[in-house]
Amino acid sequence: MFYTLQKQLEQRQEKNLYRCLKTIYSAAGPRVIYEGREMLMLASNNYLGLANDPRLKEAAISAIKRYGTGSSGSRLTTGNLIIHRQLEEALAQFKSTEDALLFSSGYMANIGTLAALGQKGSVIFSDELNHASIIDGCRLSQAKVKIYRHNDLNHLEALLSENDSCSGRLIVTDGVFSMDGDMAPLPEIAQLAQHYGAMVMVDDAHGTGVLGKKGAGTVEYFGLGEAVDIQVGTLSKALGGEGGFVAGKKVLIDYLRNLARSFIFSTAPSPGVVGAALASLEIVREEPERRTRLYQNARCLRQKLSGTGLKLVSGETQIIAILIGSAATALALSQKLEEHGVFVPAIRPPSVPEGMSRLRVTVMSEHTPADLEWAEEAFQKVSQEVKTKGF
Ligand SMILES: Cc1ncc(COP(=O)(O)O)c(C=O)c1O
Repeated sequence: MFYTLQKQLEQRQEKNLYRCLKTIYSAAGPRVIYEGREMLMLASNNYLGLANDPRLKEAAISAIKRYGTGSSGSRLTTGNLIIHRQLEEALAQFKSTEDALLFSSGYMANIGTLAALGQKGSVIFSDELNHASIIDGCRLSQAKVKIYRHNDLNHLEALLSENDSCSGRLIVTDGVFSMDGDMAPLPEIAQLAQHYGAMVMVDDAHGTGVLGKKGAGTVEYFGLGEAVDIQVGTLSKALGGEGGFVAGKKVLIDYLRNLARSFIFSTAPSPGVVGAALASLEIVREEPERRTRLYQNARCLRQKLSGTGLKLVSGETQIIAILIGSAATALALSQKLEEHGVFVPAIRPPSVPEGMSRLRVTVMSEHTPADLEWAEEAFQKVSQEVKTKGF
């Protein structure tokens, strides 16, 4: 058995798909300590710089002092603390929905929700570039799964009309696509859903805290309100902590509380994590200037990078994908950037489709103009090497 495992690892190595962990020795800031030196972090999901904010740390410490380090059981047995409910109420208010349900991660929120809703006889329509947790949720469900081409409304409509007689229909999409940085055409998806009597579920892991006036995400950004039935979010990216949630109507939340297995059969999130999330929601509400700085930095870096001759996926968000193609080249370029002090790991299959390896650059509100210039210089040099050496 172990021999087979070893062989499979070797095969991954031969295909440049072997993965190993890179260890960081500092907090998640715009600059980090890696391999004994300071590097520019250009790949973090800590978009608003909250993961190391003193107010979140204080809130986590005081929640731990009051409630301890662990919640001791699942929410439905012994682990349901008052701060869990306070956070759910705050999340529902943030997302302007009737209620919300907390999960231990965004991954758990997606798999639990899709598996619980995707009953026999129903159909889930899923964008081909949706996050792995959506793919896994679809696999766990008993629904028929129809994959539509990325953001292709004609294809989605054709699939909806082919499956018009099925009982339950659910369209699921990332709000902001994690590896491409583009957004789903949510208003048009919501229109199709209304026409065909389908529900819409948005995984807003990368829009939450970032998009919209209040930072409530893509649904707020597009002004869609209740046209989107299910909003999944994570506390682990712009909100600077850990955990996931689903926001929507009371009946949906009650249903998930009763049927989502990743909620039922898992220990409730720890008090420290919940305390930090409550503090981060307050900061997101009270400091919109963080979002303004993030958009400015995103625009500025996108412009700088498009001047390097590298191939950028078009988009407007804080995620800037640079398409490379082969896994070997993506790895080599990531290594080159590392030599120039810039931390951007290569993204390879299965995180992205075969032949679509890339560098996924992300910007933070806390990056300074000097950081962005450093980034531009490093990418200019790397792009020059691609042109001269070809890789
Ligand atoms: C689009 C998307 N959905 C869900 C998740 C999972 O969230 P979490 O990290 O909280 O499990 C991620 C994180 O990588 C993501 O990018």
